[in-house]
Amino acid sequence: MPAPCQNAPKQEKRGDAGVNLPDPDARAAALLDQMTLDEQIGILSGHMPLVMKPRPEGVQKSAGWVPGLERLGIPDLHETDASLGVSAAGRRDDAATALPCGLALAASWSLDLAREAGAMAGAEARAKGFNCLLAGGVNLTREPRNGRNFEYLGEDPLLAGKLAGAAIAGVQSNHIVSTIKHFALNDQETGRMVLSADMDEAAFRESDLLAFQIAIEDGDPGSVMCAYNRFRGTYASENPYLLTDVLRGDWGYKGWVMSDWGAVHGLAAANAGLDQQSGREFDRQPFFDDPLKAAVVAGEVSTARIREMAHRILRAMIACGAVDHPVSAGEPDLAAGATVARKAAETGIVLLKNDGVLPLSGVRSIAVIGGHADLGVLSGGGSSQVIPKGSARFDPPEGSPSWSAGVIYHPDAPLAAIRARAANVAVSFDDGTDPARAAAAAADADVAIVFAVEWATEGVDTTLVLPDGQDALIAAVAAAQPRTVVVLETGNPVLTPWLDQVSAVIEAWYPGSQGGEAIAAVLFGEAEPCGRLPITFPASADQLPHAKLPGSDLPIVNARGDTEPFDIDYAEGSDAGYRWFARTGHKPLFPFGFGLSYTTFAYADLRAEGGATATVSFEVANTGARAGTEVAQVYLEAAPGRSQQRLIGWARVSLEPGESRRVTVTAEPRLLADWEADLHGFRIAGGDYRLFVGPDAASPKLRATVTVEAAELGA
Ligand code: BGC
Repeated sequence: MPAPCQNAPKQEKRGDAGVNLPDPDARAAALLDQMTLDEQIGILSGHMPLVMKPRPEGVQKSAGWVPGLERLGIPDLHETDASLGVSAAGRRDDAATALPCGLALAASWSLDLAREAGAMAGAEARAKGFNCLLAGGVNLTREPRNGRNFEYLGEDPLLAGKLAGAAIAGVQSNHIVSTIKHFALNDQETGRMVLSADMDEAAFRESDLLAFQIAIEDGDPGSVMCAYNRFRGTYASENPYLLTDVLRGDWGYKGWVMSDWGAVHGLAAANAGLDQQSGREFDRQPFFDDPLKAAVVAGEVSTARIREMAHRILRAMIACGAVDHPVSAGEPDLAAGATVARKAAETGIVLLKNDGVLPLSGVRSIAVIGGHADLGVLSGGGSSQVIPKGSARFDPPEGSPSWSAGVIYHPDAPLAAIRARAANVAVSFDDGTDPARAAAAAADADVAIVFAVEWATEGVDTTLVLPDGQDALIAAVAAAQPRTVVVLETGNPVLTPWLDQVSAVIEAWYPGSQGGEAIAAVLFGEAEPCGRLPITFPASADQLPHAKLPGSDLPIVNARGDTEPFDIDYAEGSDAGYRWFARTGHKPLFPFGFGLSYTTFAYADLRAEGGATATVSFEVANTGARAGTEVAQVYLEAAPGRSQQRLIGWARVSLEPGESRRVTVTAEPRLLADWEADLHGFRIAGGDYRLFVGPDAASPKLRATVTVEAAELGA
């Protein structure tokens, strides 16, 4: 389904040309007819206002700015990052709402929420004078130590693709452009500027590319941002296979491809399919300015290609409404933002263990420990960093990127939110720096809540181990206090060596501007935990396709933190995440899709139908005493001639105690199909498909086999 802005009725059209033309292509063509070659080239090159000296008047500190053309009513592009709300980009103490991170949003499994979150970020961007959001991160979690996983939407192409599409549609409902990024296979930060990713084409089409394909179909983003890395030896920014064959050829994408900041290496990019150089101050040269003109004069790049590049930019800006609905800087509606941020944070919290201590009730004293819970909630770092007013900042650890804004805690302190809900309860706080002291505080209380944090940032990868001795802290507290609750604020899976010693664990991710309130609401049972993991938590690094993070043992060769170039062979192919665990039989710490509730659910009466795809319906019942929401997941388990696990659909079902409901899930047909090189498309082999329904990827509750007809689905 196209994003609404594409189909929105055109009102009050501006611009001197093409105003009365019906479709964006015709309007773009009419504008281009009036533009000189220099003017066309002018919109192909972007700046980074954050580092511009002097910064032009009327241009805010931000990631990107592309001058428009006033005489034709083509607005400037004002670009800012927005994986998790409008990023600060040098505007410290910004008035902006921090949404929970991408993984928290993905843990909601809710397309409505993703759309709402996107719409909120888009509305704030518009109110702050931005008309292009560098949003839509949909790189799959192949590497659970990837420092940017928190910005993305997990390991499954269907879940990530659907959520990204919904979020992009939400952004663009504000008549501004959203990107989708980073195309493709920027699946780890170590060596991102130099590594070459390799994967069998069929596997690529069935996984990482499928996530982009679904999100582009659903969200119709105006722009695609290429990745930093190489694919099969060729940089993504100049990779004809990615930018031309797949994106434009197979998928018929009509928008423009912009580079990531510092990702352009030469003019080969122009002919390969890159339409716009972003943040040219970051590249070796302003390639898409004078050098591009020279290449046109030399006949190396055709004027037709220049016109096509400019056409794609203009038609997308027109289609998204950025031309007809200009932005101007003002104040965002932070109260509206807070409502969405709170809902998203609550919905994304995942209850990983609970022996009954949660929801908290009847306690007379609580020891809150660690994680700067007195200050706020942790956020992830890098270009996506949102810094709302009142955030706390710490120096980043050694080895962090030189441009890091620091370790930022968003200003919604869990300690205050807990105290507000515990009127007659003594709530103490210990910063957790001394495990013995923390354990003593815990022993004195009825219950201990330890906040454990792991910072992640763009530019470096993490480990699976909680840093700064927090495992020892938790173990010490748990030894002193049998009722210990651990609240994780992490942007990746972590190992939990203390799991058996504690009573409850919740994964709150980086929960954003309303994180403290959301965590407290779940701890006290005002909100039901209903998040489900969008990534597998491995039991050890040895279970992963790459036990050692690729490139992590190579020496750093420059100030940017690069290593020598290296290759990553993604030999697990389309079996990333839970699919890998199903294939190898490894038992994860927590499986994909997992999450507990304060109530319990039962599944019954599966009916399944084949045909062009598979459709299943089943009853979900709330068998507990509290209202709750189940995320019922449907997986392919075996197709003709092969065992292969794949999520093919899901349903979120909110039920009152004792209530049951029949839900129907229809499989996305490409998840039943294989990519076939000879056919150059997806093919469903006709035959029997075994499916299961359950609460996570490792817990089948009901099974059925359906006969699906053979079909060729195209590229
Ligand atoms: C990131 C992009 C971001 C850009 C502009 C790069 O470092 O990879 O995701 O949009 O910076 O801030």
